[in-house]
Amino acid sequence: MKSAKTVLITAGPTREYLDPVRFISNESSGTVGYELAREARRLGHRVILVLGPTQLPAIAGVETIKVQSAVDMLKALQSKIKGADVLFMSAAVADFTPVQKSLQKIKRGERTEMIVRLKANPDILKTLGDPKVKKNKVYVGFCIETQNLIANATKKLLGKNLDYIVATLLESRKSPFGANAFSPTILNKNGDALVLEAENKRNFARKMFKLLKQEKRI
Ligand code: CTP
Repeated sequence: MKSAKTVLITAGPTREYLDPVRFISNESSGTVGYELAREARRLGHRVILVLGPTQLPAIAGVETIKVQSAVDMLKALQSKIKGADVLFMSAAVADFTPVQKSLQKIKRGERTEMIVRLKANPDILKTLGDPKVKKNKVYVGFCIETQNLIANATKKLLGKNLDYIVATLLESRKSPFGANAFSPTILNKNGDALVLEAENKRNFARKMFKLLKQEKRI
């Protein structure tokens, strides 16, 4: 296939370990990134999936790199970004990580409370958004917001040097995590918005690639 590209995709949560058995994480199922990887493969692209801990089975023909923490994810991406044409950053990266990771299991002992100090993780997209790294690659970010969807998403689109952002409003009583359908708005740098209603994640992946093709980004 003449127009085959290298598509780098992150999916799933990250885990920030406190000790060998405990971690801070989130509910991400990894489905959106997984469907993007399947679709990219179906279209004949070379696909590299950087995957946090999930229950998802491997996809034939997709190079999968399993990671745990945000720092691991950044390192995996830094080793692969050079050859990539498109980056989909659909992973739910933990923003903070424990300052100290205990090598031994932390004992409760006689404690009645415990304070865990956290430090900020690197902003992966921002790090890779360095113009010397990004060049003419297409970066797609994702966000879930509880309010001011378009304003918050636009701020991230510009602040992280993205070409697109897929923004979803978290509706009360309805978690997008693990659900089969969601209602994302895809924004591009010109401020154009494609609003999808109750979209199945597989169809979302198809429409995302169709949009990239229409806008001659892939
Ligand atoms: N992201 C990232 N590195 C991080 C946190 C997030 O690259 N440390 C990426 C996510 O994968 C996503 C995008 O940035 O594609 C937006 O994620 P979000 O959590 O909404 O953004 P934050 O910058 O963490 O903003 P805030 O928590 O202030 O809403």
